[in-house]
Amino acid sequence: MSEHYELNDGTTLPKVGLGTYSLWGFEGAENMAAALQEGYRLLDSAVNYENEGAVGRAVRSSGVARDDIRIASKLPGRHHKKANVMRTIEESVLRTGLDYLDLYLIHWPNPNQGLYLEAWEGMIEARERGLVRSIGVSNFLPEHIDLLIAKTGVTPSINQVELHPYFSQADQRAFNESRGILTQAWTPIGKRTHLLEEPAIVAIARQLGRTPAQIVLRWHLQLGVLPIPKSAMPSRRTENLAIFDFELDEAQMQAIGALTRTDGRIFDADPATHEEF
Ligand SMILES: NC(=O)c1ccc[n+]([C@@H]2O[C@H](COP(=O)([O-])OP(=O)(O)OC[C@H]3O[C@@H](n4cnc5c(N)ncnc54)[C@H](OP(=O)(O)O)[C@@H]3O)[C@@H](O)[C@H]2O)c1
Repeated sequence: MSEHYELNDGTTLPKVGLGTYSLWGFEGAENMAAALQEGYRLLDSAVNYENEGAVGRAVRSSGVARDDIRIASKLPGRHHKKANVMRTIEESVLRTGLDYLDLYLIHWPNPNQGLYLEAWEGMIEARERGLVRSIGVSNFLPEHIDLLIAKTGVTPSINQVELHPYFSQADQRAFNESRGILTQAWTPIGKRTHLLEEPAIVAIARQLGRTPAQIVLRWHLQLGVLPIPKSAMPSRRTENLAIFDFELDEAQMQAIGALTRTDGRIFDADPATHEEF
C-alpha cells in the first residue's frame, strides 16, 4: 500500500499525520520537531490551537527538508468574512515563519452564522496567491460542501471530521468519496474514552501482536481515511506510525465497525448546529 494519499488537486499527503492540539510553546516545538525526526511528515495545526509559531519552529529545527513536510492550519469561525480570510491566512503563514502552508481548512461551517461560502471564496484566492497549496474543510456536512461546489466550482481537497470506531461516519465518508474528497479523522483513537480498552479491539490486538491504538489506526487506513493521532510521547508516536506492515481481515474490520453508535460523537458537536469561533 502506498504511504501517500493523492488529493483531487494533484498534491499528496502522508497516510498518517500528527495531531498537535495542546502541543505548544518551546516544549511543543521540541515535541513536534522530534515527531518529524521520527518520520511524521504532516502536522495538523489551527489558528485556534495557538501553536502555529511552535509548528514553524519545529519545521525549521527538525533538519527535515521543508518540501518533504506538510503543514496544515485552519480558519476560525470569527474570520469567515471574506475581507478577514486573506489577512488571517497571511498571519498564519507569518506566525510559522514559513513561506507557505500546505493545507488550510475552514475549521467549522458555523451554518447559523452563514458565512462559510464567503470564507471559501477567500480561501480560493489565498491558494491562487500561493499562500497555501491545498484548501479544504473540516466538520462540513454534505449540504455545506455541495453549496461550495455549486457556487464556486471548486471542490475541497479534504474534509476533516470526527471519526473513530464509536463514530465511523459511513454516510459522510461515502459522500466525501463521491465528490473526490479525502476524509481525515480527528480524535481517531478516541481521546478521553475507553476506546482502546474495548474488548473487541483488545482481542484483535492480541491476535495480531499489535497495540489497540495500532489496530484502530489501521482500521482508519483500510477505510481510506487519514488519521491524525496526537501524542506527546515518543514511544506512542512511533507506535502510531507503525501500521503499514499488517492487515485487518474483513471480520476484524467489521468487529471494529460494530462499535459505532448514532450518538457516538465524543464531543457532542453536531456541525449542523455547533458554532465555534
Ligand atoms: N477539526 C477539528 O474540529 C478537530 C477537533 C479535535 C481535534 N482535531 C485534531 O485532531 C488531533 C487528534 O485528536 P485528539 O488530540 O483530540 O485525540 P486523539 O489523537 O484521538 O487522542 C489523543 C490522546 O491519546 C493519547 N495517545 C496517543 N497515542 C496513544 C497510544 N498509542 N496509546 C495510548 N494513548 C495514546 C494521547 O496522550 P499522550 O499525548 O500523553 O500520548 C492523547 O491523550 C488533534 O490533536 C487536532 O490536531 C481537530
